[in-house]
Amino acid sequence: MSIHKNDIKKITTHQLQNMKERGEKISMLTAYDFSMASILDAAGVDVLLVGDSASNVMAGHETTLPITLDQMIYHASSVIRGVQRAFVVVDLPFGSYQGNSSEALRSTIRIMKESGAHGIKLEGGAEIKESVTRILSAGVPVMGHLGLTPQSIYKFGTYSVRAKEEVEAQKLIDDALLLQELGCFSIVLEKIPSALAKRVAETLAIPIIGIGAGPDVDGQVLVVHDMLGINKEFKPRFLRRYADLHTIMTEAVQHYVQDVKSKDFPNEKEAY
Ligand code: KIV
Repeated sequence: MSIHKNDIKKITTHQLQNMKERGEKISMLTAYDFSMASILDAAGVDVLLVGDSASNVMAGHETTLPITLDQMIYHASSVIRGVQRAFVVVDLPFGSYQGNSSEALRSTIRIMKESGAHGIKLEGGAEIKESVTRILSAGVPVMGHLGLTPQSIYKFGTYSVRAKEEVEAQKLIDDALLLQELGCFSIVLEKIPSALAKRVAETLAIPIIGIGAGPDVDGQVLVVHDMLGINKEFKPRFLRRYADLHTIMTEAVQHYVQDVKSKDFPNEKEAY
């Protein structure tokens, strides 16, 4: 029996909430282009994040700061064209929402209108309260992001584990509760102690998605280039590599170069 496009049940925020309530873990990965998004969607990933990590893995920048709103919209619209089932969340890039809530809403509306995304994610807690409220009042699902927030890397100084001290841990819990109260449908917790992430996931009713936040949250997210082993250098403790595409791709390309040089490719069957 073939599955028609219209038979596929799309993931909604409501379904993600139900998953938390029935204890089904949520799978989330980043995606930045049509081909990868098509593969991840067909493989059953629940949420695709068009992360501003595109700045690192797609554009080769050291941080997430340089990527622009126009570039995020380009990536997001490419991803959307490859997706039939997954819920697609797009990061508001650095500089597109920190100014004030009108700017945050304007950036969000551009993403939603121009890419066809299903929701947005932004970094921070109490300091972005007005922006979150304004975006939510426009009917756009908002995912929060607390803990290690890479857009603030120059404030932190390092990418090490956040909220190990009580004061920062308490602020994170307060921020998570605030984001839930405002109406966020989910929150990403990045690189914080497992015990703190567990506490947040148990305290909050909305789904908590972890990256480097241990097993006791409602779902997991990874950067797809990291989990597929396309990046060789990035080896944080929280990363599990499910493939070594760097080696597979390198060998395939070396083979191709060899075949071209030796005139093995193309052969008669590969020509007109
Ligand atoms: O941009 C990104 O990839 C992210 C994940 C690390 C959650 O925000």
